[in-house]
Amino acid sequence: MIPLNLVLENNHSKYYLNIADAIRKAIEQGLVTPCELLPSARKLAEQLQVNRHTIMAAYRELIAQGWVESKLRKGYRVTKNLPIIQASHKKHSSSHETVSHNWQIIKKNNTAQKKSASQYKFNFAGGNPDISLFPFNDFRSSMNTALNRPAIKDLNYGDNAGYPPFIKEVSTYLRRVRSINDKEIIVVNGTQEALYILSQVLLTKGDKVAVESLGYRPAWNTFENTGAELIGIKQTNQGIDVDHLESILKIHSIKLLYLTPLHQYPTTTTLPVSERMKIYRLAQQYNFAIIEDDYDHEFHYDTQPLAPIAANDPAGLVIYISSFSKLMFPAVRLGIMAVDKSLASHLINYRTLINHKTNILMQDAVARWMKEGAFERHLRKVTRVYQKRRECMVHMLNEFKNQGMNIHFNTPPGGMALWVDVGFNAEKIALKAQQQDIYILAENAFHLSARNNLNKYLRLGFSGQSEEKIEQGLIKLKRIMLSL
Ligand SMILES: Cc1ncc(COP(=O)(O)O)c(C=O)c1O
Repeated sequence: MIPLNLVLENNHSKYYLNIADAIRKAIEQGLVTPCELLPSARKLAEQLQVNRHTIMAAYRELIAQGWVESKLRKGYRVTKNLPIIQASHKKHSSSHETVSHNWQIIKKNNTAQKKSASQYKFNFAGGNPDISLFPFNDFRSSMNTALNRPAIKDLNYGDNAGYPPFIKEVSTYLRRVRSINDKEIIVVNGTQEALYILSQVLLTKGDKVAVESLGYRPAWNTFENTGAELIGIKQTNQGIDVDHLESILKIHSIKLLYLTPLHQYPTTTTLPVSERMKIYRLAQQYNFAIIEDDYDHEFHYDTQPLAPIAANDPAGLVIYISSFSKLMFPAVRLGIMAVDKSLASHLINYRTLINHKTNILMQDAVARWMKEGAFERHLRKVTRVYQKRRECMVHMLNEFKNQGMNIHFNTPPGGMALWVDVGFNAEKIALKAQQQDIYILAENAFHLSARNNLNKYLRLGFSGQSEEKIEQGLIKLKRIMLSL
């Protein structure tokens, strides 16, 4: 039985009445609710260091007043139908109204939670992994080993870069699979934390951050929260328009460029090597840093994915961030920043302001899981499944085209979504779809400036649901499109 915290006052000469008052106040304040069991007379006597009969007298008093009910051998409970609590569950429900505190919110933000894509019957979210494919059994054995042989010294406070064996596994993986070497790795609770830390350490009010004009709003919100100003760079069908970036650099002093070069978010195009090299040269010439968000590197189907910009970074100006949210599942809250040595300690020290430590137990388990090859087995499996889902979606959409529907798209070599030109009414289609339990976003959700909304693109994610669901959902979507 959880003890009940009572505040005793000395209003009566009889001690049991003071105890009865304190229990009544706890009930009035909602600390115990109707029907909830109260501490036994023996337990409360021990807690208050009084005789059990004193407590029983207090309970008798409360029974007489109607606050408490007693049942033989079942103990004392708060009365079932207490009107005072049913009327309002405010902390102070007595005669005077409580005036709530007038908070002065210094840092407002617009990150309110909406219904999540996975709660819809058909989920065409652009970046949802299919968590039902995750090999929980394989992972359980790594988790068990982490618990059987706990890394005692690392479970305590101290070193805040991450769990060294996990960092070692990630470094090897980044070096072998993504050609990234010579960077310091810092473990974060997902890349959103990385973006927050980077913003706080590198940006101040009035700084300018260049971003893709169609892009990833959670990153933008974080930059803007520092008072920085976002400048949208136009996009071509290959990613950002480097000529436009250069013209902006001639006018403004840009501190950071945030990019998703491998599978541009949300259009999924891949930025060619030539454009990456031009951007890198501009970064050196105009002295800005690049945040490269490589959020779904492995999900590339037709060829090997291009090596990140961070793989060839002699000036150390690329901040590489990557996440386990899609490789495993979002709630694992694991991500990494790979940064130049000159920056690493600043980021780690700043993180200590937010959090003394990351989740070492989870990193221990994931490190073991990676070391024994299960991570790569899982990636091979889901990449094959996602590739088939992409083919299924492409096939369905081509069928629609053959039936005379006016839709256009390029099959992206990777990523988790298609960017589909439906001609017009994209926003209405997405809205109607959501009303019919189909989660889809239209291009308006991704524009930095609403003025650029052509209202003709839908982002159709293919990774988060089975081929059967993709087919059923697309047939429903076709009906919606034809009805407008
Ligand atoms: C562009 C982009 N970056 C990063 C992430 C991953 O964020 P996190 O690691 O905080 O879950 C996502 C996930 O949707 C994303 O779309």
